[in-house]
Amino acid sequence: MEQKIYLPGDHPWQNRIHFFDTLPSTNDYAKALAAQGAAEGTVVIAGSQSAGRGRMGRSFHAPEGLGLYLSVVLRPGCEPGKLMHLTCAAAVAACNAVEHCSGIRPQIKWINDLILENKKLGGILTELSVSSKTGLVDWAVIGIGINCLHRKQDFPREIQSIATSLLQAAGCSVTPDSLAAALILQLFAINSELLTKKTEIMHTYRQDCLTVGRDVMLLQGEVQTPVTVLDVDFDGGLMVRFPDGAVSTVCSGEISIRGLCGYL
Ligand code: BTN
Repeated sequence: MEQKIYLPGDHPWQNRIHFFDTLPSTNDYAKALAAQGAAEGTVVIAGSQSAGRGRMGRSFHAPEGLGLYLSVVLRPGCEPGKLMHLTCAAAVAACNAVEHCSGIRPQIKWINDLILENKKLGGILTELSVSSKTGLVDWAVIGIGINCLHRKQDFPREIQSIATSLLQAAGCSVTPDSLAAALILQLFAINSELLTKKTEIMHTYRQDCLTVGRDVMLLQGEVQTPVTVLDVDFDGGLMVRFPDGAVSTVCSGEISIRGLCGYL
């Protein structure tokens, strides 16, 4: 596929961008490149995905030319415990990029969904590999999907009521390519301050996160528990109060949430 992403000429990641008309999943391709030693800042973009993946084994609908489907390889080289906020940092970068291109800032549904007008605009899938020798993170792949030009009928019927695009929600004709350039710049910036500006990054995340203060259903396997969300901690953990008054922090690993009366 012809390269159409314009970064400032001397940008360190400019020559690490790989384009494909279609891939099963940009995350899978980026993970394979990372395992072969690809440099930090290696970016994989596809015009469509046939097997786009989301959190918790879900699929991510990725039709041709309508959305941005991008994955980036990072090499933070630190202990995995220092990267608990990585998905949150990627969400902030994605909100910054969307705001830059459209003038509209999405909100975030904990932990990884981008929201506009109460519907899902996109999502983030973060995957890590830890070296068995050093115990340090060998690579991290952040995959981001953002719906740009979809009309309602471009989504499968079963998600039409919960999914949206920049065009549908805000009337903005932001192309996947222009959003890709903004997103790469934002990911580069946030990667450079991932470990040094964690407090600031998480402060922004909490401001963008619409889940804070809501009553939601905690979903863990078959178990559903109603909780009130008190806050998001500095590792991205969700601080919740259970009906019996007990307060606890849950991590995103095996848990997702949904609203008491619907998606949010
Ligand atoms: C989610 O909704 O839970 C996360 C969706 C993440 C989708 C993006 S699209 C680019 C990258 N490749 C994938 O297979 N998934 C991510």
